[in-house]
Amino acid sequence: MDDVKWIPFKVLEDFMEGVLVKLGVPQVDAKIVSEVLIAADKQGIDSHGIGRFKPIYVDRIKQGILNPITKIDVLKDNMATAVIDANNGFGHVAGVYAMNMAIEKAKKYGISMVSVKNSSHYGIAGYYVQMAADSGLIGMTGTNARPSIAPTFGVENMLGTNPLTIGIPTDEEFDFILDCATSTTQRGKIEKYARDEKELPLGWVIDNDGNSETDPKLVLDQLTKGYAALTPLGGVGEDNGGYKGYGYATVVEILSSSLHLGPFMHSLTGMDENNNPTPYRLGHFFLAIDVEHFIELDLFKKHTGDILRNLRGSKKAPGHDRIYTAGEKEYLEMLERKDKGAPIGPVIQKQMYELINEHKIELKEE
Ligand SMILES: NC(=O)c1ccc[n+]([C@@H]2O[C@H](COP(=O)([O-])OP(=O)(O)OC[C@H]3O[C@@H](n4cnc5c(N)ncnc54)[C@H](O)[C@@H]3O)[C@@H](O)[C@H]2O)c1
Repeated sequence: MDDVKWIPFKVLEDFMEGVLVKLGVPQVDAKIVSEVLIAADKQGIDSHGIGRFKPIYVDRIKQGILNPITKIDVLKDNMATAVIDANNGFGHVAGVYAMNMAIEKAKKYGISMVSVKNSSHYGIAGYYVQMAADSGLIGMTGTNARPSIAPTFGVENMLGTNPLTIGIPTDEEFDFILDCATSTTQRGKIEKYARDEKELPLGWVIDNDGNSETDPKLVLDQLTKGYAALTPLGGVGEDNGGYKGYGYATVVEILSSSLHLGPFMHSLTGMDENNNPTPYRLGHFFLAIDVEHFIELDLFKKHTGDILRNLRGSKKAPGHDRIYTAGEKEYLEMLERKDKGAPIGPVIQKQMYELINEHKIELKEE
């Protein structure tokens, strides 16, 4: 597309960091937030990178529902577990803090879990499990989110897209990073379809009568009003196992909320009873398992790599010449984009120009 520009990652990252600092975010936190967001663009996860910068973070700071200063309070700290309060600050800052804490605890006790309350959207869950894998640990995280998914046999959007994300270190160039929502698709992808003016595939979204909705702009509006719902992983009904996605989304909702009695489902709309914007007060959880407490890390990595190589080497389906394992496509995309940067379409270009002018940001062209 002619109207798409490839912009170097450093330029995009500096832009986000610069705007955040102007909005009162401490420099060190602005760096963390921009780094998590740009990590998405680097890996081709365009639904969760710079495209989310204005609507999900900048606008929410301006609405007063996202605190630019992320004050972390450690409410409980009991050997292998902790509960922290992010005080409606950035989910990315709380996420990095919590995963570092989980890694440190797991190195000491073998396994650990940190629960986070009063947080906000933390971006790609894969960033945090990659932190664990980079340290030679198995990492796991999940978060609740605005209500989107209807339960099996229901049409009302109840559960968030609730990613259940696991990272495992391997002896390969890329780790095993399974990072996805527990719905067939997630809001960021629908936003991308809306920006690209493309119809949604059938089966991603249902209306209150249970019929597929395919207009992304209509869907985004109807999701906030409760007139549309995303289908759980596996789709509508029981035939394709939709109840499994529904079950996993429920697990994530429980683990993100019940360990600190945080709000859940319809309390996470970001609106109060008078339809005024209010902090989302999301919950996340972070688990780390230190491989060395079980077996030498090198042996584990090789063994895990063998499992993945076996899978990729297995017999291919007609019409397919390649089998992937989780984390591989993002790694390949990272290599592909390394010297090119991210493809930025007209909607995001416009948002960038407006923010650059508003906040008088000076960008160094690479
Ligand atoms: N913070 C939030 O509230 C929130 C909510 C939902 C999703 N998300 C994020 O959105 C991002 C995208 O989520 P999604 O549900 O659209 O993910 P997706 O459907 O694009 O799936 C991505 C995962 O599937 C793997 N994968 C893709 N094709 C594969 C293949 N052919 N074989 C094997 N593995 C394959 C990838 O390596 C990756 O682990 C994730 O980073 C997720 O964390 C965040």
